[in-house]
Amino acid sequence: IERPYPDGKLIVSRTDLDGTLTHVNDAFVEISGYEIDELIGKPHYILRHPDMPSGAYKDLWQTAKSGQKWHGYVKNLCKDGSHYWVYATVVP
Ligand SMILES: Cc1cc2nc3c(=O)[nH]c(=O)nc-3n(C[C@H](O)[C@H](O)[C@H](O)COP(=O)(O)O)c2cc1C
Repeated sequence: IERPYPDGKLIVSRTDLDGTLTHVNDAFVEISGYEIDELIGKPHYILRHPDMPSGAYKDLWQTAKSGQKWHGYVKNLCKDGSHYWVYATVVP
């Protein structure tokens, strides 16, 4: 089941250098299906969808670690097993 991207909203998260979530906005919490307490302090990996190729995340991390912005389509997994697509921008 696909959850539609919320109209007019931005889904925002911040991680530390290990990919641990340090901030999520309301739109992120809502679409993920998690409570905020279940997200902060957890690896961003908890949203990883098994359909996503690992090379996408390798590219994301290599790009961010080299100080550049990364853009790409990401399919994310919600708590209840549904999914949503984002066109993500990762800013180092
Ligand atoms: C700012 C930022 C946002 C990220 N957003 C996602 C995301 O939405 N979904 C996701 O699966 N991984 C995201 N990642 C990548 C994860 O940290 C992780 O690399 C990915 O889930 C794959 O796990 P792995 O690196 O252990 O294979 C993000 C990383 C950063 C730095």
